[in-house]
Amino acid sequence: AKIDWETGAAEKGNYPHFMLKEIFEQPETVENAIRGRLDHEMASAILSGIGLSPRELLQIGHIVIAGCGSSMHAGLVGEYYFEDLAGISTSVEQAAEFRYRNPIIEPNTLVIPISQSGETADTIAAVREAAAKGAIVTALCNVVGSTIAREAGRGIYLHAGPEISVASTKAFLSQVVVLLLFALLLGRNRRLSRSRGAELVAEIEQIPDLIREVLEQALEIKKIASRYAHVDDFFFIGRGCLYPTALEGALKLKEISYIHAEGYHAAELKHGPISLLDEKHPVMALANDIPGRDKILGNIQECRARKAPVVAIATRGDRAIRDLTQDVIEIPPCSRFVAPLPTAVALQLFAYYIAAERGCEIDQPRNLAKSVTVE
Ligand code: AGP
Repeated sequence: AKIDWETGAAEKGNYPHFMLKEIFEQPETVENAIRGRLDHEMASAILSGIGLSPRELLQIGHIVIAGCGSSMHAGLVGEYYFEDLAGISTSVEQAAEFRYRNPIIEPNTLVIPISQSGETADTIAAVREAAAKGAIVTALCNVVGSTIAREAGRGIYLHAGPEISVASTKAFLSQVVVLLLFALLLGRNRRLSRSRGAELVAEIEQIPDLIREVLEQALEIKKIASRYAHVDDFFFIGRGCLYPTALEGALKLKEISYIHAEGYHAAELKHGPISLLDEKHPVMALANDIPGRDKILGNIQECRARKAPVVAIATRGDRAIRDLTQDVIEIPPCSRFVAPLPTAVALQLFAYYIAAERGCEIDQPRNLAKSVTVE
């Protein structure tokens, strides 16, 4: 956003809200996160800010990701990347838990705090706790020179530009892309082959166009969203990398529309939550064509059996999903690692149009601050 530094007023251009402007900036945001960081020659990533040699990277035995809110959700996607692509055991901590629960830090533990603002109190405290225990700390931040960026001393900037809307969109997407780049680098430092690395490089370069294809459906998504603008509850369900994506989609809807939305792992429904479902309780099912799709089909049937309306995110042309659900938002085909990104954009628009229909504030939701600088 162009900021008038005298008045601090930023300009929305011709967008009604910063959130919508920032949602539509995301193809360029991802291009900025990728720029200069893909190594076609080595089929790897270049992340010079990490400040670790290949030898030091090889000594990382465990990764702990710490963050809050959407930044924690990005970390939960990153957990799949680091374990699947780099074979490094990874855990994700809510930063407030990390700081108080006496975390285990060993000589080969890498701690990755994630924070758009770089000023979140709990994440700052997590950085200090990790550093005091001797961990290597590499931060993912958007605001250059922020407290977390400075105290971590090393890390990767998102280059997403100022994010004005309290609800995070482009920063979340950049965090996930940077984590994918980091996992590519660590993977190529280990067992990821050059040919598999080259495939990932090509997939990463495709992300901005995938996002553009979703943004082109904005009016279709708005039409679907308007049918759900007056519900009181919503479940978001997903599997694999789409489970944290479901958590993030639910947070977006909660934050800006004040609808009580919950994200669950799809397999979790039958362990209790399904008792809430009825014709007034819709479910958003992330049913992209990636491993686990067939199981999600079963979950959609479970929901329909209880008369719950189901909106699905599906891969373009997936007839089976369309036949099973009321409304479908179609996503271009992409790999399971990339699927969270275009899916998150669709869920951002879904939440935005519901909140707009409800006449909500959107950029500055009640009771929320852009950066939670207090405990
Ligand atoms: C995201 O939509 C929320 N506004 C909030 O959860 C945010 O992600 C969280 O407060 C963390 O902020 P940070 O990334 O600046 O640390």
